[in-house]
Amino acid sequence: MTFEKILVTGAAGQIGSELVPFLSDHFGSSRVIPSDVRPNTNDPRFISLDVTDKGAVEKAIDKYRIDTIFHLAAILSANGEKNPELAFKVNVVGLYNIFEVAVSNKIGLVMTPSSIGVFGPDTPKENVPIETITRPVTMYGVTKLLAETLGYYYHSRFGLNARGLRFPGLISYKNPPGGGTTDYSIEMIVEAVKGRSYKCFLREDSKLPMMYMPDALDSLLRLAEADDSRLKHRTDFNVTSFSITPKELEMELREYYPSFRVTYQPDFRQAIADSWPASLDSSAAINEWGFHPRYDLKSTTADMIAHLK
Ligand code: NAD
Ligand code: SER
Repeated sequence: MTFEKILVTGAAGQIGSELVPFLSDHFGSSRVIPSDVRPNTNDPRFISLDVTDKGAVEKAIDKYRIDTIFHLAAILSANGEKNPELAFKVNVVGLYNIFEVAVSNKIGLVMTPSSIGVFGPDTPKENVPIETITRPVTMYGVTKLLAETLGYYYHSRFGLNARGLRFPGLISYKNPPGGGTTDYSIEMIVEAVKGRSYKCFLREDSKLPMMYMPDALDSLLRLAEADDSRLKHRTDFNVTSFSITPKELEMELREYYPSFRVTYQPDFRQAIADSWPASLDSSAAINEWGFHPRYDLKSTTADMIAHLK
């Protein structure tokens, strides 16, 4: 059984804070149990849950009779380089706990978002397929690659219905991003709307794949509801909407704010960005479960500005 009771971990984060209302609209709010180690919300459904505590995960799944998990709890790339030990603990031990408890409780579906972080400097740069060189140089990437592989393992060994997709940088306005390398895009738009200049921590020519949050939510739901017999892949679908450089975003923002200016002062995050692809091949996601992004740079920027205003 799936979608009768859905646990969302990491629900207070950038994706979770939008996925919870999105799933609630789709399945009914009483079916969604948002959880986080820092439940900073007034939502009465919210429970406090640390995914590194296996006993607590077990208790929550039993108490709420969970049959589906959207596992979002994680430490992202830039924060992961600041605290690799924490990244390993949350991204690996936390995921292991989720998979173990999911198997013993016969959970029908576990969704585990992955990331472009699984790629590394030896990966080709453009139109990168799913199967390619994956030799990440960040702890975040290492943990995400292990998470994808564990998903395949739990599926083949225990029949666990683990599914996941490699998100590019996600752009959104409702909740601040959680310490990633692609966060510059959100920060730049926010500063432009506030009428301020922006100091970008990446070089102006750092091209990275991106996606607007409504397309990310839609793709999570499409993959979650996809017919299992059509899936040749499980936890490592590439998905992308458009690829941009910081300079291209700056120029797009100048269409709205002609005096907007950006200075470029790369920091440690430049090395992370340099190790990631510029564009991805999403054809497996399109063919196997109908991935269909709607937003490009222009419509993303217009919608972000309309909401941030
Ligand atoms: P985020 O950092 O905004 O949110 C993660 C949440 O996890 C936070 O609210 C944090 O409090 C929570 N958390 C941390 N440690 C925890 C623990 N021990 N137990 C329970 N919760 C804990 O991240 P996000 O952007 O919402 O990312 C969600 C997922 O999507 C992650 O797996 C991430 O790797 C993936 N992803 C995100 C992006 C992006 O651009 N946002 C891109 C690619 C992949
Ligand atoms: N946006 C994420 C990050 O920069 C990609 O996984 O960490």
